[in-house]
Amino acid sequence: MDIKYTLKPASERRTEPFRPEGNVGFGNLRTDHMFLMDYRDGQWQDPRIVPYGPFEMAPGAMSLHYGQSIFEGAKAFMHEDGEIYTFRLNKNAERMNRSAEIVCIPNLPEQMQLAAINALIDVDRLWFPMQEGACLYIRPFIFATEDRLSVSPSNQYTFCVILSPSGAYYSAGVNQAIRLLISKQFHRAVSGGTGASKAAGNYAASLRAGKAAAAYGAAQVLYLDAGNRQIEEVGAMNHFHILKDGTVIIPSFTDTILKSITSQSMLELGDLLGCEVRQETVMLDKFIADIEAGEIIEAGGFGTAAVVSPVGSYIFEDGRVVTVGNGEVGEHTLRLYRLYTDMQKGLVAAPPGWVQ
Ligand code: COI
Repeated sequence: MDIKYTLKPASERRTEPFRPEGNVGFGNLRTDHMFLMDYRDGQWQDPRIVPYGPFEMAPGAMSLHYGQSIFEGAKAFMHEDGEIYTFRLNKNAERMNRSAEIVCIPNLPEQMQLAAINALIDVDRLWFPMQEGACLYIRPFIFATEDRLSVSPSNQYTFCVILSPSGAYYSAGVNQAIRLLISKQFHRAVSGGTGASKAAGNYAASLRAGKAAAAYGAAQVLYLDAGNRQIEEVGAMNHFHILKDGTVIIPSFTDTILKSITSQSMLELGDLLGCEVRQETVMLDKFIADIEAGEIIEAGGFGTAAVVSPVGSYIFEDGRVVTVGNGEVGEHTLRLYRLYTDMQKGLVAAPPGWVQ
């Protein structure tokens, strides 16, 4: 791919490594540049790296009206050799195309996505935040740009990549167990819908449920299937729980669950984690009974942003609270988090091809 570079003048871009004073937080900062490429006349064209800044877009651009917009989230880490390495980026590129298919956006070859992201990281490498637990959060996204108001797939799109020097998603990171609202009122997805994609609209649809959770003192919603029987997802993450023998259970992937790359990685790591990791249909009633019987001792969420987010308790809409174990962050959850983040940081060897 022949990328055209229009860089900020040297006097306006970062020239020294980024050593932030306070915690950078998640998703707040931007780097100097962004990557852009357009889809027109049936092909992706004009790949370019330009200064980060506003887009010019028609008010009739279809993504603004009908939500044809998808995104990914990935991370890059600085290893001890001072180089920046992405983690499982090919899985994100693959998932971008699965999302694209679900909302009728044209396929964007994985190699093009990877080349775009690597080129942008290379240009803005000095923006890596030199801080414990930090990363460059990578946000690729595609949105419809055709200026037309009839409801059908757009004929024009833009692919953009921005980078955000970031720290933990939740300020207390893995050290704080959160509470989840078990909602029978709000649902994230229905079979045959867009739940298995990272379509922007899925996240807009989650905001009202998130507000309801906050009213119960919960950080997020535990989503059930539309029949309110099975556990599906937690906020923007996959759910997991841990049995008393250490086995990790993730709800089976269906077309109402987004396949988290962290979940897929935990499943692939298997023995390396020192425990069994498997998927099954998780029925809410049995899940609650097993927590109360002490058969389930830990639970949480797997996602790119938070990595592993421990859950200490669940609250029902009638106010009933169910505490997992002693309500604190459990040792198995911490072990999974440490091993996974050590792989990301290059402190422990990851399977071939994961770190690039
Ligand atoms: C993830 O953790 O994978 C997410 O998608 C979270 C993001 C929406 C901030």
